[in-house]
Amino acid sequence: MCGIAGAVAQRDVAEILIEGLRRLEYRGYDSAGVAVINGGELQRTRRVGKVQELSAAIESEPLAGGTGIAHTRWATHGEPNQSNAHPHISTDTIAVVHNGIIENHVKLREMLKGLGYCFSSDTDTEVICHLVHHELKSHSSLLAAVQATVKQLEGAYGTVVIDKTDNERMIVARSGSPLVIGYGLGEHFVASDQLALLPVTRSFAFLEEGDVAEVTRREVNIFDVDGNAVTREIKESEVTHDAGDKGEYRHYMLKEIYEQPRALAHTLDGRIAAGQVLDSAFGDNATKLLKDIKHVQIIACGTSYHAGMAARYWLEDWAGVSCNVEIASEFRYRKSHLFPNSLLVTISQSGETADTLAALRLAKEMGYKATMTICNAPGSSLVRESDMAYMMKAGAEIGVASTKAFTVQLAGLLMLTAVVGRNNGMDEGLQAQITQSLQSMPAKVEQALGLDDAIAELAEDFADKHHALFLGRGDQYPIAMEGALKLKEISYIHAEAYASGELKHGPLALIDADMPVIVVAPNNELLEKLKSNVEEVRARGGLMYVFADRDAQFESDDTMKVIPVPHCDEFMAALIYTIPMQLLSYHVALIKGTDVDQPRNLAKSVTVE
Ligand code: M6R
Repeated sequence: MCGIAGAVAQRDVAEILIEGLRRLEYRGYDSAGVAVINGGELQRTRRVGKVQELSAAIESEPLAGGTGIAHTRWATHGEPNQSNAHPHISTDTIAVVHNGIIENHVKLREMLKGLGYCFSSDTDTEVICHLVHHELKSHSSLLAAVQATVKQLEGAYGTVVIDKTDNERMIVARSGSPLVIGYGLGEHFVASDQLALLPVTRSFAFLEEGDVAEVTRREVNIFDVDGNAVTREIKESEVTHDAGDKGEYRHYMLKEIYEQPRALAHTLDGRIAAGQVLDSAFGDNATKLLKDIKHVQIIACGTSYHAGMAARYWLEDWAGVSCNVEIASEFRYRKSHLFPNSLLVTISQSGETADTLAALRLAKEMGYKATMTICNAPGSSLVRESDMAYMMKAGAEIGVASTKAFTVQLAGLLMLTAVVGRNNGMDEGLQAQITQSLQSMPAKVEQALGLDDAIAELAEDFADKHHALFLGRGDQYPIAMEGALKLKEISYIHAEAYASGELKHGPLALIDADMPVIVVAPNNELLEKLKSNVEEVRARGGLMYVFADRDAQFESDDTMKVIPVPHCDEFMAALIYTIPMQLLSYHVALIKGTDVDQPRNLAKSVTVE
């Protein structure tokens, strides 16, 4: 969603800020803007569309100045036009960028209008800058004015404020929307994601909920929600500088699909010894906290939810514990039953998904025995607020469509299955099989990537299709769901997934020659059942694309194209069959000419409800 970059430096910062915005483009946005303080005046440039357009505008009319803020906006309140783009300015003095949603903006707007403030946008954000301007009249510093302002805000914000009369500082505040401070030499930065600042620093401190910070060239002073001075640990980032580059690939999504063998090897590194998954993979307290777990509640959204759905089959079948999986936005608003000795597991690439975070907070209030997150973002809210964290180490994922994060989540969840299973009497033979399977995943995924050319050819068949149906059984049902989600997201083809046993309970009515049916068919104990479902589709004139194990004995004919998938064991089948689903959606999107990495209407990290 929206992205923020800010800087206080001795050099001109517009270029740094624009590069920061470029690196945040993956989050999804529809307009962009920058404001700098130059010679006691605020200079602002905003554009609808891509950061490139903003950059071109600044090239023709350069912005000079060492203190500035910039923003990519993903419209919530008010359409994506130039006057709604950030930064917003009050009375030609205070400039503000903001991520999140101010829920009481209508009331505040009325109050501010009553005080004589004129609004020039439809955004909720504009209330923040007028409020800061108003509070400055009765407070002695910008810091105090922002502290007084945020006390009046309801909702979520990550916000940065500058004042043209003081080019020495910016004030940043966080509640519900992440902000990280970047430490340089004689200069400081702020951003909604460390990726934005990697060209200028590798030292970061993450603000915590309720923090307000005063950032000058020489100092960063952080205050907690009660106004007490606090320190937040400064850490060196492990994210590499080139994480934001596409390298030789045409799209980030393709790069990330191809990075999967490396990402999997990385996530396994140091987490398996003597044929066993180590408890420490889940953090220092894991041995104690995972000891008596009898029930696992998994919470996530989107692709991460699909990973959780696959893990349910494994935890119940192999680890011998009961498991529920729920979409975070549902869990957080309903009364659910808490089973004794329950572990709450959130799964999230970004660690900042608003619904998942709210669900975690609710679960803590409910009294879960322990909480764990499976997460790719060190320092994120989910990591900081959970008792245990499995850090995915997949590397930065930029493409909006999640790919390598999903397969690494599956690997992490299989490790969790082994550890929870061990505590519940899983026999050593099964543990060893799971461990061996984990270790051979990178090489097997490499083999599966060999399907790329065949799938590129197959994708031609989908170019004129408007609908598609994905079928799977057992832990392949979530993989069918993930395949359908990928196709929807980046090719805009309506796709649905069904557990194939459900076909005759309704969806069979949809089958005709215009509805391609994609089937994931590893050679497992449900294969014969799946074959019956395939016959049901064939009998109704459906066209099928069957991704099948070589031993599954499907044969291509007029109604069915069979794509042989490398043979794999049951522990990794879900992960391996994901690869052709990712490649299929990618190639269909290429043919349709969509914006693969930033599909319309979507954001990478959904930090608002
Ligand atoms: O960062 P998270 O894993 O919490 O994100 C959850 C979903 O928003 C995300 O998986 C989304 O569905 C992706 N765009 C799917 O490709």
